[in-house]
Amino acid sequence: MTKKIVVLPGDGIGPEIVAEAVKVLKKLAEQGLDISFEHGLIGGAAYDETGVPLPNETLEMAKKADAILLGAVGGYKWESLDISVRPEKGLLGIRSELNLFANLRPAILYPQLADASTLKADVVAGLDLMIVRELTGGIYFGQPRGIRTLENGEKEGFNTLVYKESEISRIGKVAFDIAAKRQGRLCSVDKANVLESTELWRETMTSLSTNYPDIELSHMYVDNAAMQLVRAPKQFDVMVTTNMFGDILSDCASMLTGSIGMLPSASLDENSKGMYEPIHGSAPDIAGQNIANPLATILSAAMMLRYTLNEAEMADRVEQAVSKVLDQGLRTADIFSEGMKKVSTSEMGDAVLAAL
Ligand code: IPM
Ligand code: MG
Repeated sequence: MTKKIVVLPGDGIGPEIVAEAVKVLKKLAEQGLDISFEHGLIGGAAYDETGVPLPNETLEMAKKADAILLGAVGGYKWESLDISVRPEKGLLGIRSELNLFANLRPAILYPQLADASTLKADVVAGLDLMIVRELTGGIYFGQPRGIRTLENGEKEGFNTLVYKESEISRIGKVAFDIAAKRQGRLCSVDKANVLESTELWRETMTSLSTNYPDIELSHMYVDNAAMQLVRAPKQFDVMVTTNMFGDILSDCASMLTGSIGMLPSASLDENSKGMYEPIHGSAPDIAGQNIANPLATILSAAMMLRYTLNEAEMADRVEQAVSKVLDQGLRTADIFSEGMKKVSTSEMGDAVLAAL
């Protein structure tokens, strides 16, 4: 049966990079992949058209889809809007409405890019790390939240970090299962020395581990984890953590690989329906210039093939094509170094197509 892909380009460089990933998927469609595309609005682009960052029409389309390909949301233009209609709300809304609680963020260093990392090549060479971030709970969604005025007239901002056992164990299971298919090592990251909600996180991960005797579970405080990621990142196989810690640690991990422009992600629900997006933002400063790196989005399409469309072989081929264009010395500006050939967004996409 034809699989329905909803394409949500979003803002900034979103439309440019998504176009390249769609080109790749269309090429695979010519080779037998049975997919169809539908486009929708999200983020600032949706706000400008409809007054909300996540129109109902988009949400309904996404609910009916098999998978969603998203670019990025946000930009200077919308920064002064009320938080309830900011582009980011559209992204958080679709994650939450579709129950996409499991966010997989692999940080893999392509050997060709070892020199592009700000870390020494021997610290990052061979890096292959998977961050599993809880995506629909924690402080991003906890109630109560807001900004209130105290009796003395001073304003106070507040948010709530809250996790139910069931939320912790369902993300835990995803992470243990992923670790089982890899090197079998899972590091759960928390701040259990200070925050009760993550004390429960640690307890729940520990009791879950009795079901996974072959997985080596360790625990680490988030401050130490941030330090270890830049000190000796290869000690990690799979990391599992809360929504906010995962947001921060995955940006940190991305720089190990040379550029945030290289990292894809998958956000999955209980049935492996998924939304796929690069982990980088909308980069409004370079939007419309055809210089952004489309590889994270193309690699996100590869994750879609693997996790939702059950086309592992095609996913492998896309990943190999990316590796091949890097071998050819093609580099967008963010990963450019002396002696390489600088290419535009669309030239990079074309090169991946050719390598397919
Ligand atoms: C991410 C982004 C989002 C997040 C923003 C844009 C809301 O930083 O996907 O990592 O914080 O989750
Ligand atoms: Mg982030």
